Formats: sequence, C-alpha cells, structure tokens
Amino acid sequence: MAKHVIPHSYQVSKKDRITANNHNSFLLWFTGLSGSGKSTIANVVEQELFKLGIKTYSLDGDNIRKGINNDLSFSPQDRTENIRRIAEVSNLMIDAGLVVLAAFVSPYKKDRDNIRTIVKDFNFVEIYVNTSIEECERRDVKGLYKKARAGEIKNMTGISAPYEAPENPNIEIKTETESVEDAVARIIDYIKPKLKLNYE
Ligand code: ADX
Repeated sequence: MAKHVIPHSYQVSKKDRITANNHNSFLLWFTGLSGSGKSTIANVVEQELFKLGIKTYSLDGDNIRKGINNDLSFSPQDRTENIRRIAEVSNLMIDAGLVVLAAFVSPYKKDRDNIRTIVKDFNFVEIYVNTSIEECERRDVKGLYKKARAGEIKNMTGISAPYEAPENPNIEIKTETESVEDAVARIIDYIKPKLKLNYE
C-alpha cells in the first residue's frame, strides 16, 4: 500500500531535536490490568521528569480511545490495532524528541512485541504494573468489574478476556507491596542513564 510513498528528507533531524532538548527520547510502556495503577504511576513519573526539565507526553485510554482510536472495540483484533496505532504515534513522538509515557492494558504479548519492533528495542522500556485481578476487582475504581460480572461488559480483561503477563519486563511493580513513591523512584533510577545523550 505504501510502496509509492517516497519519504521527504527533512533538514531538522531527530538528532537536532534531542541535542536541543539535551536528553534522549524513548517510550515508557506501562502494561497491566484495568485498575492496576498504570496511569497513576505514569502520571507521577511524568511530573518528576517535568521537574527535571525533560520534555514528555502521556498517552492513555482517555486521550486515545476517545479520539484517534474511537472506532475500535475491545475485541482481540481491535486491541491489536489500538496498540499498533499507539506504537506508531509513540514512534513519531520519539522522533519529535519526547519521552513518551503510554499506559494501556495491552494484554497480548504479540502486540507488545510489535511495539518493540515499531519503536526499536532500545527505545522501548516495558513496565509491568503487576496488580492481581482480585485487588483490581476490589478497587474497581471505574465500576467496570462489577458490570463485567453482571455480564454488561463483554471481553473484560481478567474476567472474560485474557491478560498475558510479560515474562521479562524491564521493570515490574507489585503495587500491593510497593508504594507509588518507591515505584516511581525505581523507574526514574532506571531511565536516568537512558536520558543521557550518547547513551545509544
Ligand atoms: S487495550 O486492551 O486495547 O490495551 P486500553 O488500555 O486501550 O485496552 O483500554 C482499557 C481501558 O478501557 C480500561 O482501563 C477500562 O477503563 C476500559 N475498558 C472498557 N471495556 C474494557 C474491556 N472489555 N476490557 C478492558 N478494559 C476495558
């Protein structure tokens, strides 16, 4: 489909942009069940990065599934397309020089592997927000688990649709035993060397 699309060569490069920003750009990908705490942790990480003068942007269900992906459901095929588009958008933002924080359930391993391919391995930091289904259901911040149990929501991850846990994430956070502050500190420690220019 794209074979007759010839890319134009722009004069301002990614290298120019990260040099001007004085930090590298990459993707922090938060995966985990609905209600696991992905967005909460991502949000605090972004605030910390902002304080350090890092240029960031956050993507999550609110700004993606209500906008660019408002044509997609929670079927396996649509979730795959959801994640593919988010990975492509993230890739553009990495090219724009940003540290991107993306918080999505992303339950399928093959879809997460595809993100790694799209943005390239060294730009991808996989953060597994590991909260048990029992705890997510107990919290039920959005009331979705109750609706899923009542049969009002089909394909609910953890209830009637699978979640394939990452086997080898870069960072794993067990929210039932670790505070948000401690988790954020660990993430910041992990990414600090990656932010430095000439790291790649
Ligand atoms: S993903 O599976 O395609 O990655 P995404 O992260 O975009 O999912 O959206 C998940 C959010 O949509 C959940 O946090 C929850 O608020 C809401 N949601 C609504 N229906 C479902 C469902 N069937 N399964 C999971 N999440 C759902």
